[in-house]
Amino acid sequence: MSKDIIHIKEIILKAAQNAIQETGNEPEPELTKKIDWPIKCSVGPGLEGAIACESKIGYVNGSKGWLVYRGYNIFDLCAYSNFEEVSFLLLHGRLPNSCELETYKQKLINYGNLNKTLRLLMAFPVEKMHVMAALRLGTNLMRQEFTILDTEEGKPDINDAIASDEDSIAMETIPFGSNHAVYEFDKQDTRWFKKTKAEEKARQSIDSIGFEACYHLIAGVSVIVAAISRIHSGKLPLEPNPDLSFAGNLLYMISGKIPSPIEERIMDISLILHADHGMNASTFASMVVASTLSDIFFSVGAGIGALSGPLHGGANEAVIKSLQEIERADNVKTWLDKKMINKEKISGFGHRVYKAYDPRARILGPLAQFLANNSPAIMPIYDVACELEKQMISKLGAEKKIFPNVDFYSGIVYSCLGIDSKLFTPLFAASRVAGWTARIYEYIQNNRIFRPRAIYTGEFNKKYLPVSMR
Ligand code: ACO
Repeated sequence: MSKDIIHIKEIILKAAQNAIQETGNEPEPELTKKIDWPIKCSVGPGLEGAIACESKIGYVNGSKGWLVYRGYNIFDLCAYSNFEEVSFLLLHGRLPNSCELETYKQKLINYGNLNKTLRLLMAFPVEKMHVMAALRLGTNLMRQEFTILDTEEGKPDINDAIASDEDSIAMETIPFGSNHAVYEFDKQDTRWFKKTKAEEKARQSIDSIGFEACYHLIAGVSVIVAAISRIHSGKLPLEPNPDLSFAGNLLYMISGKIPSPIEERIMDISLILHADHGMNASTFASMVVASTLSDIFFSVGAGIGALSGPLHGGANEAVIKSLQEIERADNVKTWLDKKMINKEKISGFGHRVYKAYDPRARILGPLAQFLANNSPAIMPIYDVACELEKQMISKLGAEKKIFPNVDFYSGIVYSCLGIDSKLFTPLFAASRVAGWTARIYEYIQNNRIFRPRAIYTGEFNKKYLPVSMR
């Protein structure tokens, strides 16, 4: 292992040490025990506070600033693991042994050969489309190649449906303690992942058709992201290079150059950091679609749609714009004072869940510094970021618990890797598809169609008037 790669590991372990010193080293176990349904919770608009399901995939403790995937803390995974292992871990619930890892890596390479999908995609004016729109289209086009729901034996049996689009509380009014909406999360539903005889025969070991579709998507979204990036710059897409890692391939398929070990390692860490994050909007959107027994390609397409909104993905692009606008560290105070007077939110700060320093920013901050040290064009922006962080924390840290979030430093990291800012959100999707597929797969094993309620606040007894009388 080179000196630089060892140094990157030390940076992450130091960030972990700081986190432990500042926030304690154990998440609260009493919050993670199995639930007896139905459960009482306070729900706000947008389902804030609602509990939709149980999950063993990931844990976020927002007050301590902890992120855990399948029991492993994010610092250890970033220091010692790689995206192939982590995506396998999220899907299967355990780290792969060496034979499983090799098989899985090979599958990701094989599934990354999306010739048919890319041919279809290039029939569209991709160079004129927004990158997220093109990614959503490309992901849906992947479905042409691979879906069991289109085959006769793969069709869900309507008579076997375990839930429908019905509300178990009759009226759209405030509930008065009705106990009908009991969570029926008890029936194994594996129809969605039904295996054909040939597939069953071919694979008795680690996976099923469901996992294969997940692997296909994990491999495919990256290939499509890279292809879109190349088409946007007037170049032809590249196939994955079988000698490169997942992270290395992502960079290679974007730039056409074999990345350095440092670039590959940093991209790997970024992929790990973005792979899963609780019941966020895009994860929920993908699960809602999956819960109708639609297929996983449409479900992931829904996740991509949700991620494209500025309240979810894209804040890192805005951060880079702000840092460029500020230009120099000694301009921070004037710029920030003006924003505060106008009550504007500062991109890259604050988080719905974290009311402590986001652990992902703890890792990306020092990595941004490490990269910026060797990148004279980015160093001034990094200096501005440090000053902005200092002043924001002194203004809002103690009072409003506002700290940098994952997006604050990720844009600087990507810029050091030579990645155009319009690819920042697609890269988020290339990683988060691991979390989406894992959570969809987990949920569908005990599926219940998502069906919250709205409280009707409209009128009654209005008299219908023909159009000529209105
Ligand atoms: N800059 C300045 N003030 C802020 C910021 C910010 N970035 N974020 C929150 N605040 C203030 C609010 O003005 C509000 O103040 P008030 O109590 O005086 O009205 C208070 O903190 C609470 O704000 P909310 O918006 O209610 O906080 P919430 O937790 O709902 O919002 C959010 C979280 C949407 C991320 C918000 O912090 C924000 O808009 N940040 C900037 C955009 C951003 O960086 N998004 C990326 C998030 S990470 C991700 O999605 C991967």
